[in-house]
Amino acid sequence: MTDAAQPPVNTAELYMPSPEVVEQAIVKDYDALYRRAAEDPESFWAEQAETLEWFRRWDKVLETARAPFYQWFVGGKINIAHNALDRHIKTWRKNKIALIWEGEAGDTRTYSYYRLWQEVNKFGNVLRSLGVRKGDRVTIYMGRVPELMIAMLACAKIGAVHSVVYGGFSEQALADRIEDAQSRVLVTQDGAWLRGQIVELKKIADEAVRRSPVVEHVVVLKRTGHEVAMEPDRDYWWHDLMALPIASTKCETEVMDAEDPLFILYTSGTTGKPKGILHTHGGYAVYVSTTLRYVFDLKDEDRWWCAADPGWITGHSYIVYAPTILGATSFMYEGAPTHPYPNRWWKLVEYYGITVMYTAPTAIRGLMRFGAAWPNRHDLSSLRLLGSVGEPINPEAWKWFYEVIGKKRCPIMDTWWQTETGGFMIAPLPITPLKPGSATRPLPGIIADVVDEEGNSVPPGQDGLLVIKQPWPGMLRTIFGDAERYIRQYWSKFAEKGWYLTGDSARKDEDGYIWIIGRIDDVIKVSGYRLGTAEVESGLVSHPAVAEAAAIGLPDELKGNIIYAYCILRQGYEASPALEEALKNHVRHEVGPIAVPAKIEFVSALPKTRSGKIMRRVLKARALGQPEGDLSTLEE
Ligand code: PRX
Repeated sequence: MTDAAQPPVNTAELYMPSPEVVEQAIVKDYDALYRRAAEDPESFWAEQAETLEWFRRWDKVLETARAPFYQWFVGGKINIAHNALDRHIKTWRKNKIALIWEGEAGDTRTYSYYRLWQEVNKFGNVLRSLGVRKGDRVTIYMGRVPELMIAMLACAKIGAVHSVVYGGFSEQALADRIEDAQSRVLVTQDGAWLRGQIVELKKIADEAVRRSPVVEHVVVLKRTGHEVAMEPDRDYWWHDLMALPIASTKCETEVMDAEDPLFILYTSGTTGKPKGILHTHGGYAVYVSTTLRYVFDLKDEDRWWCAADPGWITGHSYIVYAPTILGATSFMYEGAPTHPYPNRWWKLVEYYGITVMYTAPTAIRGLMRFGAAWPNRHDLSSLRLLGSVGEPINPEAWKWFYEVIGKKRCPIMDTWWQTETGGFMIAPLPITPLKPGSATRPLPGIIADVVDEEGNSVPPGQDGLLVIKQPWPGMLRTIFGDAERYIRQYWSKFAEKGWYLTGDSARKDEDGYIWIIGRIDDVIKVSGYRLGTAEVESGLVSHPAVAEAAAIGLPDELKGNIIYAYCILRQGYEASPALEEALKNHVRHEVGPIAVPAKIEFVSALPKTRSGKIMRRVLKARALGQPEGDLSTLEE
C-alpha cells in the first residue's frame, strides 16, 4: 500500500446505496442541489444560515473586499454555544441526551442538553472569575472526557478563544502553543487513561508552564486520582472551583460578531512553527452543521459516534459543535479501541446502539488485523452509515469496513477536508454511488478542481494540485498572529485567480470523482495525525548529540505513513542502537509520542540544495529505491 489508493481512471466497482438509506436521505438529488449552490452561492449559504438562531441578522453574506481575508455573514450577531445549547433548552430537546460517555475502565456518564448547558454555564462563570474575558485565549490540554467539551463550549459562551492541544503532544509542543496563543489560563487534568495506563498530563503541563510562564492559572480536572503536584495560587481543582457559589448555573452568553474568533487550532505546516488556524463563530457554525446534516444525514433519533479526539479538528467540528447545533445524541469513548480486547469498539456500537459511526482508516486497519471474529461477536445491525477521514482509505480497509462492519448495508462516507477548511469539502452524500478509495465529489457550495502549475484543469487520470476556487463559510480566516503566512501559504500560488491551495495532490476520474494522492508539502500523515517534518527535526536537534536531522514519511501498511529520520551526530557522539533509543525517547518527551520516528539512521551528510535546504524528496526516493529525479540543484 502507498499513501493513496491507486485510482483507476474508470472503475467498474461502483457501490450503490441501499433503498433504505436512500429513502431516509435528507438530500435526494445531489446534482440539483449542487447546481443551485453553484449558481447562487450566497443565497445557498444564507438559506443554511437560517437554520441557526442569530441575535442579529447579517447585512451581507460574503464580503470579498479584503480578500483573501473573506468575511461571512457580515454584521450578523451570534454565539455558537447559544446555538449548541441555549436554544435547545427552550424546546423538548432540553431533556434529550446530548452526550453519552464511557471511560476506558467502563465507567459511564450521560448528559442531557439541560445538564450539559448547566455545566457549561458553571464553567463559563469559573473562567470569568479567573479573569477570562472576550477575546482572551484559553489553552485546553485534556484527554477524551466530557469536561473537555464543557471547557470548549464554556469558552465559546463567554467569547474566549479556545486553543485545544491534543493530549498526544508533549512538553515543548504544548509550551510553544501556549506561548504563541499567549494563554493566561490552562485547563488540564491529572492524567488520562489510555490502554490501562496513565498519561501524565498534569506533569507535562507543569513542565510546559515552566517553559512558557505566561500562564497564571491552571484548572485541573481530577480524572485518574493519582498524586500530582499542585502549585499554590496557580493550580485549582476543577471540582473545587465548580463548587464555589460563583459557579452558578446561569451564565450570560456573550453576543459575538459573526466574524469574532471562536478557536485557534494548531496544525503542522512546512516550518517547525505550528500554525494557529483561526475559525469564527458565524461561518463555522453554519458550515459544520450543514455538512454534518447533509453527509451523515443526522436525525433526532440517531446515535452519532465520531471516534476522533476532540483535540483535532475532526473532534472540534463533529464531536463538539456540529452535533450539538443539530441537537443530536453523541457518544464519546475515552480509551483505546483494543482495550481490554480488540472487540471494544464493536461492543460499544452494540451496547449503545450506534447508528452512524465516523472514524479513520488507520483505526480500521488496526482493528482489521485482529480479524472478523471480534466484530462478528456483536450485533452491529443498529448501524446505518459509516464514515472515514484523515487520509486516503485503501480499498482493502474500505471493503472490510463495508462488509464486516456495515454488512454491505451501510455506505461509507469518505470525507476529505482539513483543519483549515473547518468541515467536509469533498464527500459523498448517503445517496452517492461509491468507489472505494475516492471521497467522490465536492459538496454543494464547494468548487474544487485538480489543476497544473499554471492553473489549467488537468484531464482525467492525471495528477495535479487540488484547489478550491471559491470561498466557503467554514474556511479559516487567518493564521493567528501571522496574516502574512496565511496569504503566502494558501493564496499566493494562484493569487490572481483567488484560489485556495490545499497542499494535496489529487486526480479526477471520468465521472468527476476525486482521488486524493497525498500531501505535496513537508507534512506527514502518521495514523491520520498531521505532523511537519520540521517538528520532528527540531525535536531531534534539540538533543545534544544531534547536529542536523531530516525526517521523511514512508508508506506503511498500518499507519499510512511512518516517520523515518536521518541524523548527523555532533563530534564526540557515536552512532549506536542505544543512542537511537535515546533520541526516540527525547522526541517522545519533547514533541510527543505521535512524532517518534520508527527508525533513525545515522549519516555523515544529507542531500542539500545550494542554498542549504535539505532535499527530502531525494531521501525519500532513495529510501524507496525509486529514481531520484532532477538532481541539478543538489549541492552534496
Ligand atoms: O492530506 C489530506 C488528508 O489530511 C489532510 C488534512 O489534515 P488535517 O488538517 O489534520 O485534517 C484531518 C481531518 C480533517 C489533508 O490535506 N486527508 C484528510 N481527509 C482525507 C485525507 N486524504 C484522503 N482522504 C480523506 N478522506
